[in-house]
Amino acid sequence: MAEEFFLLDRNRLPRHVAIIMDGNGRWARSQGLPRYRGHVVGVESVRVIARLARRLGISYLTLFAFSEENWQRPGVEIRVLMALLRRFLYRELSEFQENQIALQAVGDLSRLPGAVQEDLARTMAATADGAQMVMTLALSYGGRSEIVHAVKTLARELLAGKIRPEDLDAALFSRYLYTVGMPDPDLIIRTSGEYRLSNFLLWQSAYSELYVTDTLWPDFREEAFLKALEAYQQRERRYGLTQEQIAS
Ligand code: FPP
Repeated sequence: MAEEFFLLDRNRLPRHVAIIMDGNGRWARSQGLPRYRGHVVGVESVRVIARLARRLGISYLTLFAFSEENWQRPGVEIRVLMALLRRFLYRELSEFQENQIALQAVGDLSRLPGAVQEDLARTMAATADGAQMVMTLALSYGGRSEIVHAVKTLARELLAGKIRPEDLDAALFSRYLYTVGMPDPDLIIRTSGEYRLSNFLLWQSAYSELYVTDTLWPDFREEAFLKALEAYQQRERRYGLTQEQIAS
């Protein structure tokens, strides 16, 4: 893929890109295939996008792979997704290591099947020193639950006298989220044309640029990703300031 074809400024790439990968089922239906085939081809998009993000020098890539609401899907679909995840972790390990990619996971991981938890723990440990890119899978993840989980931990520490109410601010609160240590996403991409966050990174998305494309996730490959990055670079990020303040 000729990245040069796109008007990308390598010095102004987002540091953290998060993606709501949507449309696998619709893609499969459009091809006359069973739903699970959409997920299978979707994994290929994950590989392609991760590779390109790494090559471009994007430091953090976060993918919404399984929401807490997804537990309500038919058991057979959940089993397919878990099997695909395990196969992905197994097959990509050497690629992660060669490319200095650290794999992480956020969400209520305790709800995942034991074998998936073990595979994740093993992959995270084996890639922990990857210094070029952190690739985070949001699994059994819900933004509101993450915030409630943070508040519970915080409340316990407050009651134990470990922190004082007057010390609490946004920066301190962020340290109780699953995403501790990560910068907030600069860009959130959603595929398949839906204009909503669907409970993804609710706290962290406060100033994220949002990009929605009609492309379905299994079709979201290099060109679509580069187009999203180009659109991002055309945005003016103001963080509540005026245009004049930004320019000065
Ligand atoms: C949304 O499509 C996608 C998901 C619920 C799961 C995303 C999972 C993958 C891309 C594969 C597994 C990921 C990894 C990292 C191995 P949908 O089923 O909601 O599509 P629809 O809205 O068209 O029905």
